[in-house]
Amino acid sequence: MVLMLSRSDLEQVLSMGDMIDSLEEAFKELALGKVFIIPRSIVVLPKEEGWIGIMPAYGMNSFSTKIVTLYTKNFERNLPTIMGTIVLNDPVTGAVLAIMDGTFITGMRTGGLGGLAAKYLSRKDSSTVGIFGAGTQAKTQLVALKEVRNISDAMVYDSVRERAKSYVDEMSKKLDLQIKIADEPRDILRASDIVVTVSTSKTPLFDGKEIRPGTHINAFGNYKPDERELDTETILKSRVFVDYEEAALSEAGDLIIPINEGKFRRDEIIGNLGEVLLGSKPGRTSAKEITLFKSVGLGIQDCAAASLAYRNAVRKKIGINVDLN
Ligand SMILES: NC(=O)c1ccc[n+]([C@@H]2O[C@H](COP(=O)([O-])OP(=O)(O)OC[C@H]3O[C@@H](n4cnc5c(N)ncnc54)[C@H](O)[C@@H]3O)[C@@H](O)[C@H]2O)c1
Repeated sequence: MVLMLSRSDLEQVLSMGDMIDSLEEAFKELALGKVFIIPRSIVVLPKEEGWIGIMPAYGMNSFSTKIVTLYTKNFERNLPTIMGTIVLNDPVTGAVLAIMDGTFITGMRTGGLGGLAAKYLSRKDSSTVGIFGAGTQAKTQLVALKEVRNISDAMVYDSVRERAKSYVDEMSKKLDLQIKIADEPRDILRASDIVVTVSTSKTPLFDGKEIRPGTHINAFGNYKPDERELDTETILKSRVFVDYEEAALSEAGDLIIPINEGKFRRDEIIGNLGEVLLGSKPGRTSAKEITLFKSVGLGIQDCAAASLAYRNAVRKKIGINVDLN
């Protein structure tokens, strides 16, 4: 039997707190070399401005594959930019255990990783969040930051003001939080202890000269080597951490472009988040420094989320069992 889990099933079995804990274990395993992942493998459809990719991963004794699409024009169609489906297999036999919605899980595991990075890299007294991009991922980023820090105020900037307005309407009620709309990018930098970049912009969102000392930046948007959300200045003035060096150095234009300009070296990356979690690399070392976590997204995040969802769903008897044979 294969357990089918819809978005509403997943909403009942995945909490952000548990998601962050599960990612913490997964990233420790990744840093210890116990995780097996391959680079994201994608087929691009230029005419549709879209691509489909597969992301298999093994870790924490779980085995999953996400099939994911990214269609940049979907916002106009009232569809998510990123959609996915996850297959969870038994690591011993290979048999399919579950098939579940990967769109909700993408939001949870991406937001959850933002929360985890901020828990270890942002100042403990961080209380203000500024977000660039008011789309799907921006929602779970804020939910996760509220889990790990005492957030009192948030601000959002989107190049399409209507999207920022909808975001504020939805998220201020949901989180009982004051959220303002920024008129311009620099408003976010002036007001925020934690800055999140999670837009679909292909060019830098702000002038790195304006980042305040002590800021933590969670950079989650663009993962194409020739595009970026952050300028070179931002990279140069930050202590830079990544999710996984191999992936970041092949996908993250935020880092690859400054490296190709000869202004930043790969050995200037302090380390990956798992190393910080294990204590083998120092995280934040002063209240004044600027820390930056760049994530391109890894299959192991989906694997951690899918196995957590599966275990909880079995325990709570949620979902529909289907015989595919
Ligand atoms: N690192 C990861 O694991 C991970 C996971 C999922 C998505 N992503 C990335 O996160 C980004 C956002 O994904 P999403 O699903 O929320 O997309 P989305 O389409 O729902 O939202 C993106 C938002 O960014 C806004 N935007 C575009 N250019 C901007 C600019 N210059 N300034 C401010 N706002 C701007 C758009 O108007 C839109 O509201 C994408 O780049 C996606 O590839 C990363």
